[in-house]
Amino acid sequence: MYVCLCNRISDKTIKTLVRNNHITSISGLKKCVSISSHCGKCLPQATQLIQNEQINLSVVTDIDAVQ
Ligand code: FES
Repeated sequence: MYVCLCNRISDKTIKTLVRNNHITSISGLKKCVSISSHCGKCLPQATQLIQNEQINLSVVTDIDAVQ
């Protein structure tokens, strides 16, 4: 699913970038892709995706620490 229609950036792309590049903010994401560079309607959803991926990554790290 596209999050940023203006730049054709999908949720999958954002999740992959967050995981692989340790992105924690929109400014970090903007260094990798041109998200929110036109209308800006994608900004809330992109922010939420980054936050969700950070939570997912911390859960995985916690599980790894227990094992
Ligand atoms: S939807 Fe992302 S800049 Fe327009």
